[in-house]
Formats: sequence, structure tokens, C-alpha cells
Amino acid sequence: MPIVLGLASVKLAVCHRVLECCLPAIRIGSTCERIVVSPERKEISVAAGALFCMDGVWESQCPEGQDGGYLTQRKRRLCKGCGSWREAEMKFRGGLWHDSEECPTIHETNGGSFPSIERQQELALLLHPGCSLSLLWFPITLALAVVTARGASGLGANGIRLTMESALTARDRVGVQDFVLLENFTSEAAFIENLRKRFKENLIYTYIGSVLVSVNPYKELEIYTKQNMERYRGVSFYEVSPHLYAIADNSYRSLRTERKDQCILISGESGAGKTEATKKILQYYAVTCPASQQVETVKDRLLQSNPVLEAFGNAKTLRNDNSSRFGKYMDVQFDYRGAPVGGHILNYLLEKSRVVHQNHGERNFHIFYQLLEGGEEDLLRRLGLEKNPQQYHYLVKGHCARVSSINDKNEWKIMRRALSVIGFNDSEVEDLLSIVASVLHLGNVQFAADEQGNAQVTTENQIKYLARLLAVDGSVLRDALIHKKIIAKGEELVSPLNLEQAAYARDALAKAVYGRTFSWLVNKVNKSLAYKASEPSPNGKAIPKSYSCKVSSMLLVISKLICFPKCAVNAEEKFPGWRSTTVLGLLDIYGFEVFQHNSFEQFCINYCNEKLQQLFIELTLKSEQEEYESEGIAWEPVQYFNNKIICDLVEEKFKGIISILDEECLRPGDATDTTFLEKLEETVKNHPHFLTHKLADQKTRKSLGREEFRLSHYAGDVTYSVAGFLDKNNDLLFRNLKETMCNSENPIINQCFDRTELTDKKRPETAATQFKNSLSKLMEILMSKEPSYIRCMKPNDAKQADRFDEVLIRHQVKYLGLMENLRVRRAGFAYRRKYEVFLQRYKSLCPETWPTWDGRPYDGVAVLVKHLGYKPEEYKMGRTKIFIRFPKTLFATEDALEVRKQSLATKMQATWRGFYRRKKFLTMKHSAITIQSWWRGTLGRRKAAKRKWAVETIRRFIKGFIYRNHPRCPENEYFLDYIRVSFLMNLKRNLPKNVLDKSWPTPPPSLCEASQLLRRLCMQNMVWTYCKRISPEWKQQLEQKVIASEIFKGKKDNYPQSVPRLFINTRLGREEINTKVLQALENEALKYAVPVVKYDRKGYKARARQLLLTQNSAIVVEESKIKQRIDYSNLTGISVSSLSDNLFVLHVHCVDNKQKGDVVLQSDHVIETLTKAAILANKINNVNINQGSIKFTVGQGKEGIIDFISGSELLIAKAKNGHLTVVAPRLNSR
Ligand SMILES: Nc1ncnc2c1ncn2[C@@H]1O[C@H](COP(=O)(O)OP(=O)(O)OP(=O)(O)O)[C@@H](O)[C@H]1O
Ligand SMILES: [Mg+2]
Repeated sequence: MPIVLGLASVKLAVCHRVLECCLPAIRIGSTCERIVVSPERKEISVAAGALFCMDGVWESQCPEGQDGGYLTQRKRRLCKGCGSWREAEMKFRGGLWHDSEECPTIHETNGGSFPSIERQQELALLLHPGCSLSLLWFPITLALAVVTARGASGLGANGIRLTMESALTARDRVGVQDFVLLENFTSEAAFIENLRKRFKENLIYTYIGSVLVSVNPYKELEIYTKQNMERYRGVSFYEVSPHLYAIADNSYRSLRTERKDQCILISGESGAGKTEATKKILQYYAVTCPASQQVETVKDRLLQSNPVLEAFGNAKTLRNDNSSRFGKYMDVQFDYRGAPVGGHILNYLLEKSRVVHQNHGERNFHIFYQLLEGGEEDLLRRLGLEKNPQQYHYLVKGHCARVSSINDKNEWKIMRRALSVIGFNDSEVEDLLSIVASVLHLGNVQFAADEQGNAQVTTENQIKYLARLLAVDGSVLRDALIHKKIIAKGEELVSPLNLEQAAYARDALAKAVYGRTFSWLVNKVNKSLAYKASEPSPNGKAIPKSYSCKVSSMLLVISKLICFPKCAVNAEEKFPGWRSTTVLGLLDIYGFEVFQHNSFEQFCINYCNEKLQQLFIELTLKSEQEEYESEGIAWEPVQYFNNKIICDLVEEKFKGIISILDEECLRPGDATDTTFLEKLEETVKNHPHFLTHKLADQKTRKSLGREEFRLSHYAGDVTYSVAGFLDKNNDLLFRNLKETMCNSENPIINQCFDRTELTDKKRPETAATQFKNSLSKLMEILMSKEPSYIRCMKPNDAKQADRFDEVLIRHQVKYLGLMENLRVRRAGFAYRRKYEVFLQRYKSLCPETWPTWDGRPYDGVAVLVKHLGYKPEEYKMGRTKIFIRFPKTLFATEDALEVRKQSLATKMQATWRGFYRRKKFLTMKHSAITIQSWWRGTLGRRKAAKRKWAVETIRRFIKGFIYRNHPRCPENEYFLDYIRVSFLMNLKRNLPKNVLDKSWPTPPPSLCEASQLLRRLCMQNMVWTYCKRISPEWKQQLEQKVIASEIFKGKKDNYPQSVPRLFINTRLGREEINTKVLQALENEALKYAVPVVKYDRKGYKARARQLLLTQNSAIVVEESKIKQRIDYSNLTGISVSSLSDNLFVLHVHCVDNKQKGDVVLQSDHVIETLTKAAILANKINNVNINQGSIKFTVGQGKEGIIDFISGSELLIAKAKNGHLTVVAPRLNSR
């Protein structure tokens, strides 16, 4: 049995980390199944009722019916109404996901991120039983709180374990799960209001103690899934929210643990959901019970018996489209392992009249329509049928052969498959369907009166079909249909029938054929379900019966000796073949019926309900009394209406209504329904629960017809019309028809009509007596079993979802006797629980019991209730249970717990948070200190090492300094290295920028030599680099400048001015020189030309001339005339003054007279001109720089003198002494 650990109610907000930490501890010895993390809230839900709850409100949101605010999701759903997929907002309500939008008929879901039931499971953390929690480091408070709560908590419909008590917090909105907790339990209005509240929240199940009240939701609720079945499996009754499965499981467990036969009685009016409930219970067992190959077959057959019996026994009525027209009691047999191994069905009172007549809006049994709609062409041809139901008189009376809510074709397929599963072979199916078809043909048999008024068959064709289908002689059948055979005093008397009688005989035959076939069908199903006392061994082979029996009888003996000797003996006696098995019965029987017009059927049905009510009261009271006795509590007599008086009125021998009816049926003479009524009036006129028009007072008489009688049932008054009572009770089938059927070669008909019937002299039992007997057998069966009850109700007549018709519900509450149920249940105490369970739940309300109570649970509860201030009249202490008389006492306790839970949760939160934070803080502190100390150590060590190094360095430095001038030795090598490095580094930073930069760092004495070498290297490098960059033109320029420097530097005043001025190739372009001159020069390359002033040799007159330098000569040109050509070979020298003037003299060697003598010239670019001339003439060393005056030859041996003096400004003039005087300006630079 799965249990949920811990605090059903405690709430604790924890962060993800906390849970991560907690889980290892929780998982010890357990299987941790599901945990949900809510990302929006950053919380982890381990679900209410589980270990702990997260946000302090979780539990109050989870109990059944609570709206879990944040628990919403969007989901894809298929709307049946509009047929489209749509996104719908789902809300978590009442333990389920609900559609919050108004598209009601939703039947399918598709994927989605949060499939409802499956994902709802994930809200729970379930731990399995027997787990011992080692809460390794949990804070003390939490550990104390998280204790095993076996049976103290349960699973809600949403998969969250809830106790019934924990759901009480939501009682204002969703009502109470158990009517015994209704404060005002005598008020029908309060009862209905509670039902209404729950119905609105889709909570269709509510308990009255152990009785389940179910309201048909008329819509698919997702509460019947496999997951839900698993949740109810093996869980204690009160641990879970009310459900069919809880009842089913409870019965099953009692059956297994106590090996006592069980039965579940399902009652309610037509359409209330009895059959659905039966099917769901069967499905529950099919899913949850142990399985094996053989068991699977039985399970299949059990489940598949439904479609078959429903096809033949159900029909559409005004109240229910799939109304069961027979009562059904089904036994499911379980072996010692709890596996279903067989079954048996008892059927009651099939409504045969429906075969021949249906009210408007109703249909015949489904099988007829299924056959016509779904039957294959071939089959229909063989059966002589047409697809159209309108062709058959028995199918048209209700005027609704086709109904939108019923898919006959589909149902046909299901039914056919089910027949195969049950074990019908093809010929049996054919025989069965032949009978179905024969009923339809019978309906179409028509009569006409002959001259004597006797009936004659007019539809020969139908007789032909009938003869074939029923395998009888056609003419015999025809005769039998229109004649009546009576045996009087051993003589056969055959008399013809009139039209009316013939129709009656035909209908009686149809009813008999169908009714008996139905019973045959039930028998056939029973054979298929019968327990075969051999079972497969583990290796798949069947264990011999003898061996199996030995095991079974051993078990039986054990059960006899140890457990329940009484029960074992009973089972043995009653079911000799079933010894090794236990039985669980399911009774799906018609509920109380009150119509406008009530007839024989209603009379039988209501009589059946009276019997069931009697059984119910007896058993409920009995079990209540037994519990009181076993608990040692004084039994207080309960006031209730004992309906035995009504049962007696119906069934008592000689005086009961059934006896009188039978008597009237048997009586020779003219017995009619009216004479029956008169007889009744006569016999039971003084009975307080019987009334007729004649017996009634003036006032009530108006509401009673003369053909009616009224019975005051436990559930209310019902007026029955006696019309048809006799006929229906007689259920007469004329002898010759019986004989015909007995001769049938159709195997089924043959079995249904036994020949012994014909020879049996005893009158057959009337329908009422048969029913009475079968009921009394049923009561016996039920009495031998432990009963559970399901009371079904329908919320409205329109078969609509979400419609709660209060009037209809009130009516059902009344006739189901629910108020009576409740009163009986509440006669003593409203609430009872085992001491352990009670203490476990409420121990936190008392300081002495919280957190643990070491003594006996009984004492703990005594202390607890004393602390809670329960008054003596409010409770009683039994042997194992506490009994609380009033719900308000329980509610007050529950409310106190709610408040306490808040404070506990807060305390736990605080403790936990404190613990968690402190733990975190301590870890952080420890880490910080570790890091700090490590870092400080590192820093200290680093600093010390640095200091040591510094001391060493300084010491070496000082030593080195002292020994700096010594040869390299260990004392000074560091210093010298340092000096060298620092000099070199300094040098690196301060190297000369160019060749002219003469700067150079001063080297230390020890590096002078190296410094010199480096300096030279550096200079060479710069020069080399510089030289590499010089162009040929610039080289030529520099060479010329060098020569100029050699000649003039420091010798002539205007030389410095010429230095920055570049020499240019020529001062006159060729275009400036007369062409004649150029022609005269012919091939002589002109190297340089410059405008000059020539001073005559005699008068020193200044004349503008051009001086041209070629490779070989210097030429003085006047316009186009070459005035003088001086070959360089004749040039003896060049004279200039040392002053700043620009005069120069070219000295010419005069070998002949042709030579004109020296030439006095003046050039603005004297340095340039003379340098070029000296280079060209190779007269570098022949340039004379004179101080004072220059002598020159004037030709023919004559001489001229030029005097140079310094003055303020340049003046060249002939002096009086005949010399040429040149006043050269003084230059500042000198
Ligand atoms: N639990 C349920 N959930 C959904 N629908 C239900 C449920 N119970 C009943 N119904 C609906 O109500 C209809 C009638 O139910 P059901 O046939 O079980 O009634 P009944 O009590 O057996 O009636 P009758 O006495 O006429 O046989 C079903 O066909 C189904 O549509
Ligand atoms: Mg039914």
C-alpha cells in the first residue's frame, strides 16, 4: 500500500537548492516518484500530503475542490460540439484539470505540454510503504514533523494524497465529501445543497458513511483513467476522495484479506448511471487485479458480456438511450491470488412487453436495429430481412427507429466481436440471429377474420420465413397461431381464435421466444464465464485439476482454521464447485420507479426496491451495531422506518398482494383485473400502506382512479393501475404454440422450450411469484455477502451535462431513501477514526502530543481531546477508535489544525531558513578565512623575499661601488655589470641622431675603450647609412662643394655665403646662348655657362659677357662672337681676392701675340664658377686667393693691377693710379 510521507498539511517554501539537498535524505529506503518544479514560482512542489508543501498555501489549494490559482495551463482539446481543435484554458480545480471555457462536450485531448491526469500525477511525491526515513541533516523541527503517516493521508483525484479531513478546508465551496459531516443532517435542503455544490465542481461522488452517492455527470470526466485506478488501488477508504474505485477497491481488499464474499449494490432510477458504474467497476478489476493468460481470457469475457447483454437486454427509452430492461446480478469469482477467474450472471424480469410494443419515443431492444443496420447483405438475405426498420411492425411503434446518439452499425460490430470472445461459433450465432429475425417476422404476421369470425393468417410469406428460421413446420405453426389447444380431463380440445386472440397469441409467442432466448443467452454467457478449476502453471501448462484442487482445499482449510471459518463453510456449502474462490457480486438493478401510469412492471420493480431497502437498513444497522459492540460503546437504538411492513404487504403468503394476484389468476371463472382489485380491497383494506378509490377518504379519492390502488412505499406513494396485471402475471403462451416450439430444430429454441413443460401437470409459476422467488434468492445471496452500496442519481431528465434539477434530485433523494440512510448513519456518531490515525493528524494541536507521543495512541488521544476541550457528550472512546458525535466538533478541530499548520509551517520555514542560511554563512565564513589566510601568507612571503633580494642587491651595489676601480673581481662584478648595463641602456636611449650630431654619453671609466669603439661603429654605421642614401647628382654636388671648400674655405670672405647655396649645372640654358656660338663650339660639350662682367684690360670698362666652360677651354662670348678662348692648357691660374667681391682673373699663358692676355671677370656666382672652372681645367691647386691686390698680364708683357680693399659697399672703378680698385663690402660673418 503506497503511503505518503509526512506532513499532510505542513507547508514550507523552499528554494530549489533546499530540495536538492533534501532529496538524498528523503530517498533513503524509498522510491521517490514525482516532484514538480514550478518555474514561475521558483518553487518545488512535493505536493500536499506529501513531504512538505511549498508556498504556505499549497495544501489548501490542493484538496479536492480548491482552485489552485496559479495552476492553470493551456491545452489543445477537441470540441465534440463544434468538431474543432481549440486551445482552452485549463484550471486546476477539485483535484482535476477543468476546462474553463464554455465549449462543453470535450472528449479528447492531444498532447500539450501538460496532459491532464498523467501530468497531474507529477504533483505528487509518493513514497512506498515501509520506508524508514533517515533525515540525515534535516533540522530537528522538520525531522520531527516528517514522520510516517500510514493511513493518515490519502491521494486526491489529482494524484495528491488527501485525507477526507484535509478536504474540509474547502467545504464552503465544494461541500463535504461525506454527508455524515453535514451539520444539519436532517435537512433535505442542506443535503441537496451539498450535492449541488459538488456537482458544480464536477465532484460527482459523495459518501454517506460507506455508501457512495453518485450523480450522473452526463459528460466524460477524466477520473476513470488507468492512473486514477492505480491511485485508488490498495488505499484505505477514507484516504481518498469519494470514487467508485474506492468502493470497488475496498470490497476487493475485504474479499482478499478476510476471504469474505462481497457485493456491490448499485441502484437508482433509469438513466442514473448504474450500468456505467458496473462497467467501470469491472474495468477497474480488469486493470488492477493480478493477471495471467487464463485470467486475461476471463477478464475479456467478463467485459465482453456487457455488449452482448446490452444488445439483447437494453433499449432506448424516454429516460435513457441505453436503458437496461432487465435486472442484473453478476458474480465475479476471484481465486486465492485475487485474480478474476470466473463469473456468473443472474438476470431478473426482462421487460418482454417491449418486444411487441414501445411507447412513443422509445425503441425495441437494440439487437433488432443493430442487425438491420449492421448485418451483412448475405446474412440479411438468409434471414429474409430488409435493412429498413420501418418494414417491421415491432419496430415502428415508438416512431424513432433511428436515434442520433446511437450508432447501431458500430454497436453491431462490437456485439459480434463480443460474441466471438464469449465463445459463440458461427452456427450458434446464425441460430441466435435467426431467432431475432423470427421475432421481426412474427410481428409482421397478419390475420383476417373468416365468415365465422375466426382468425386466418394472411401473410403466408412470413410463415415461410418463420418456419425456416425457427426450424418448425410452417403449417403447424400457422395452425398454432390461430388455434388454442386445451387439455381437459386428458382430452385435447382445439378451438379457433378470433382476431384479437390470434394477435395476443402471436405477441405472446414473440415475447416468449425473445424472453427465453435472452435467458438462454445469459446461461450461455455463464457457461463461458464458468470457473475452470485448472490453471496454467508458471511454464504455461495447465496444472492438473486434482493438484489445483489440492492447493485450493489446502487454502480452504487454512481459511477455515485461521481466518473465517464461518464464511468458508458457507462458501463451501453454497458453491460446491467454487471452493477455492471468493465472490464479488455486482447488482445493477432497476431503481424505484414512479411514472404517470404505473403497471405490473413498476409494481415488481418497486417491490424489489423495498426488499433491497430492507436489506440495506438491516445490514447498515447491523454493521453499525457491530462496530459499536466491537468498540465497546453502548448501542443506542436508532429510530428508522422499517419497511418490512410493506414487503409483507406485497409478499406475505395468502394475505400478500402477490398471493391474491396469483389466486385470482388461478381462479376458474371470470377473473379480471377488476375482480383482482376488489379482492385486494377486501383482503388488505386495513393495511396502513394500502389505499384504493373505495377505501380513500373524500379528499384523496380524487387522486385515485377506480382501477387503481396506491401503495405507500418507504420512498413515497405510488399509484398502480391494475389493468393488465392478470395477463402479465399469467404470462400465458397457448399450449399448441409451446408444442410447436418444442419441436423446433433450432438448437436454441429447442433448449428454451423444454418438453417437460408439456407433460408437467403443475401449473407454471406466475411471473410475480417467479420474481418474488428470484428476489428472495437474491436476498439470500446478498445477505451472505458483505454489501457496499452505490446510489445513483440523475441530475436532469434532459440527459444534459452541468444541469442540476433540484426538483428531480429531491425526488430521487427521497425515493432512494438517502435521508433515511444518513439518519441511520448519523444516529450515533458523525465521525470515527482509529486512534493512531486521529492522533497522527491532530497531535500538533496539543503540546504534550507534539511532536511525538510515546505512549499508547489511546492515551495520546485522551490527552489530546482533553486539551482540545471536548465535552463528554461530544465524543466517546472506543477500543480502537474515537467516536465524535457532531461534525461541528470535528470542523472546529480541523479549523484549529489549519491555523496550527500555518504557524507550524512558518516556524518550520523560519527554522529551516535560519538553518540553511547559517549553514551557508558558516561555509562562506570558513571559506573566506581560508582564502584570506592563504592570501596573506602568500603576500607576506612575497614581501619577505623581495626585501631579502633588496638587501642583497644594495649590499652588492655598495661593495661594487667601493671596488669599482679594481679589476673585475667577485666584489665588483655586480656593480660593473650594473654600470655597464645602465651605460648601455643610456646609450641606447641617447645615440646620435645623424652624422653631424656629435653628442655621446660619457662612459664610465671602465668602459671608455668600449665606448670609443661603439662610437666609431655608430658613426660608421650612420655614415654608411647616409652614403647609401646619396644620389649621383648629390654626390657630384658634394664633390664640387668639397673642392670649393678646399679652395675657398677660410680664404675668401664670401665663401661661407655660398655654402648653403647649391651649385647648379649651368646658369645659362642653351637657348640663352647665341646659336652661332653654339655652332662654333661644334662638338665641344658645353659644361657650364654663366653671365659675367668683363673688365677691359686698359680702361677697365665693364662689359657684359658670357663665360662658357667646355671640356677643354673657357670661352668668353659677347653675343654671337667668341671674344676669347682660353684652352685649359694655357690657363696658368686663377686669382681671386680674399674679400667678398666677385672679381676673378683667369691667367693665360701668352706664347704669341694672338693671346690677349689675362681676363678680368666678375661673376655673381664666383665660388661656383671658379670651382667648376678649376675642376674642368684641373687647376684646383692653381686658384690663388690674394690679399690686397692681384697682378695680371694685359698682353705683350704689360701688367695690370687690381687693388682690393674692404669698404662699406661694392665699388669697382679705375683708380687714379691706373689700378682697378675693388671695394668689397665687409661681411658680418667674418
Ligand atoms: N459516470 C458517468 N460518466 C459519464 N456519463 C455517464 C456516467 N454514468 C452514466 N452516464 C451517462 O448516462 C447514461 C445512462 O447511464 P446508465 O445506462 O448507466 O443508466 P442506468 O442507471 O443503467 O439506467 P437504466 O436503469 O435505464 O439501465 C449513459 O449512457 C451515459 O451516457
Ligand atoms: Mg442500466
